[in-house]
Amino acid sequence: MTIPVLERIGELSALLDAKRAAGATVGLVPTMGALHPGHATLIARAAEECDVVCVTVFVNPLQFGPNEDFEAYPRDLDADVRTATDAGATMVFAPPVTEMYPGDQSTTVHVSGLTNVLDGLARPGHFDGVATVVAKLFAMAGRCHAYFGEKDFQQLAVVRRMAADLSFPVEIVGCPTARDHDEVALSSRNAYLNAEERAAAPVLIRALRAGAELLARGESDPARVRRAMVEIVAAEALATCDQAEVVDPRTLRTPDTLEGEVVLLVAARIGPARLIDNMRASTS
Ligand code: PAF
Repeated sequence: MTIPVLERIGELSALLDAKRAAGATVGLVPTMGALHPGHATLIARAAEECDVVCVTVFVNPLQFGPNEDFEAYPRDLDADVRTATDAGATMVFAPPVTEMYPGDQSTTVHVSGLTNVLDGLARPGHFDGVATVVAKLFAMAGRCHAYFGEKDFQQLAVVRRMAADLSFPVEIVGCPTARDHDEVALSSRNAYLNAEERAAAPVLIRALRAGAELLARGESDPARVRRAMVEIVAAEALATCDQAEVVDPRTLRTPDTLEGEVVLLVAARIGPARLIDNMRASTS
């Protein structure tokens, strides 16, 4: 089966408007390509819940810092179209950079409060880039359900807030993190790892488990939970801990005392990749 691959904003908006006018519901799956089985689960969920599924493939320059991997980010549109089709997509939107950002971009979408913590500190400007491109995609797509992975916990929180604050007619659907056989979260950046580095990657989930176990045993001091996670990552020679946090899932801030539902987040550098993962947990 061949599905349409659109490059122009006008074509995308016209096609989705026509589908909605004919009574179809629309699912949108924003991606930067390099589609893996984790993306396929988002697409399959969208296909279960919506009549039409549009997968967007766009490596967004606005969300990469000057020393990050924009140039190196894996790009293979033919493979992405095959993966999207097999998972149930009905179209792919893969615009060139000049279509998304034709001239000087004077407008940036900034979600305050949720972006000056966690990865927002490690990657200044990253979430402005994400919020801006996702707002543009929502404006182009119109009324839809939009599917995002919970692996990018902070991104999901930022997108939810942005969509609500700007009144986009978009229902945000968070989907559980897809994991490999050894529970490593699936990520396009796993492709940067050699075999030895890949074998070190389960350290992130081990660190999260250690944090969750402490909480289950009644630990309420965030510093102790953080320290337990940092120690696990430090014990893996190939990993450097970039971040180990325990936060309130609504505010993304660390409370003085842990109580009830929290989310644990870890970021670690392994070889050329910065990997992230998270886990919901609660104090007993
Ligand atoms: O999660 C991603 O792949 C990207 O950050 C997104 C949401 C497609 C925006 O470029």
